[in-house]
Amino acid sequence: MVYTPQLTELMKKVEETRSSRVGVDFPRMTQEERRDVLEKFHPDYNLEGFREIKVGVNKGARMPIEMADVFEAYSRIRDLEFDLKADPHYDVDVLVIGGGGAGASAALEAHSTGAVVLVATKLRFGDANTMMAQGGIQAADKPNDTPATHFLDVMGGGRLENVPELARALVMDAPLVIKWLEDMGTMFDKKDDGTMITGHGGGTSRKRMHTARDYTGAEIMRTLRDEVLNKGINVVEFSPAVEIILDEQGRAAGAVLYNLETEQYEIARAKTVIIATGGSGRLHYRGFPTSNHHGATADGLVLGYRAGAKTIYADSIQYHPTGGAYPPQLLGLLVTEKTRGLGATPLNINGEQFVYHLETRDVESSAILRECEERGLGVPLPTGIEAVWLDSPLIEIIHGEGTIERQLPAMLRQFQRFDVDIRKEPMLIFPTLHYQNGGLLIDDDAHSTVENLYAAGEAAGGIHGTNRLMGNSLLDIIVFGRRAGRNAAAKSREIAVPDGLNLEHLDSYHQELDNTGAGDGRISPMVLPHYTHR
Ligand code: FUM
Repeated sequence: MVYTPQLTELMKKVEETRSSRVGVDFPRMTQEERRDVLEKFHPDYNLEGFREIKVGVNKGARMPIEMADVFEAYSRIRDLEFDLKADPHYDVDVLVIGGGGAGASAALEAHSTGAVVLVATKLRFGDANTMMAQGGIQAADKPNDTPATHFLDVMGGGRLENVPELARALVMDAPLVIKWLEDMGTMFDKKDDGTMITGHGGGTSRKRMHTARDYTGAEIMRTLRDEVLNKGINVVEFSPAVEIILDEQGRAAGAVLYNLETEQYEIARAKTVIIATGGSGRLHYRGFPTSNHHGATADGLVLGYRAGAKTIYADSIQYHPTGGAYPPQLLGLLVTEKTRGLGATPLNINGEQFVYHLETRDVESSAILRECEERGLGVPLPTGIEAVWLDSPLIEIIHGEGTIERQLPAMLRQFQRFDVDIRKEPMLIFPTLHYQNGGLLIDDDAHSTVENLYAAGEAAGGIHGTNRLMGNSLLDIIVFGRRAGRNAAAKSREIAVPDGLNLEHLDSYHQELDNTGAGDGRISPMVLPHYTHR
């Protein structure tokens, strides 16, 4: 029992109202109410957090200030000379930058066509947001569901701003992705008769969330990583890419890697390149804590952008409604949406529910911010911040004793470590920075706007419009990872040896920074957050 006497006293209000909330659905918002709460409380609508970028292909576009800062920065290798005519350290058909779920899927697919593949990853293979994804992966593979229904949910969740062909690719490949994973050994939750157990997430009209308890991402990453290693695909760890190399026609032709252990730069020549570097939560937009792993510093976006790849919806950030708020060791860490999917409801200081528990994430988060900021009904924490309750014990009442142990074992242990028993005590939560909805613009072949440069996973944008639904990220890393791998491998077969390797695009980018004064002495990619011990 880590809760202070004051919190324990406040918790009694949650207990008092609990039985009156069982089996009662809180009304969903109307579209007008949703729009209103978003416009007033969602951080994406607060223009103070943004500025226009002054350089590059999206010059004039709005970006979060922290992202614009890493885009408007000089290359780490600005003052270094590289002999790009000499034999490179690596010479491959397909270079995959990033060792999370998208990178691993891309590598597997490219390798399966006979391509020589290198995976270069910043930290260890598998250190990625994939590993930390908990709640599930969506796919319409039940008799009462169809990819078309899934498509409508994806588009509705994305405020109809999704690139339709990308959303279409996502939902059409989804059932095959589940089969692909299962065939490789992913252990999804099943009933005794062997059928998949599927549940709801915010904004889903059918139960199509496939799960492996509440560590679905870890289970998927385990499978993918084993498969890559078993196939003998070359993986180089602790080697972030710090710039894309182009050929004489301005096509992607490799990357400069920085070996964090030897502190040497290494050249990887490749006929095609895939950026699968994940997101940017560690930029801590607007000072929010994050659910992201330490490598999520927007590196791939920076490299791609400097090489000329366009971005889409760079100004759209997802705040997950249920980040841990207390105890402080859990600040910002994910409390999976599966908790709400199983019926846990958000409550204010009076133990009153104030929002339907499965609104889409943008709306749910905004309603929590409103409850604390405008209505003054947040729960004050000893750490000086406010939060709301998430009534997890309700799950045991709805589904029976033992449900949390069975379905949310990771959550149970995460809180037990601090003497909070979520079967008996509600959690304290607040929105956390979770996902970058936008990214590098791709087409449905996962090709970016730079020739021979592909992107997949959180580094790519357009699939989810301006708000992603739960479970569509674990899906998109595999759908577009595989598409990127397959298409990059096919394209590599059309190229003999990339010619005229160069880094001249950096000169023109630096010139723009000099001309506009936008660089302000900054260096990027960031590689690791400033507070990480190096
Ligand atoms: O809440 C969650 O488990 C997160 C899932 C996701 O972002 O898809």
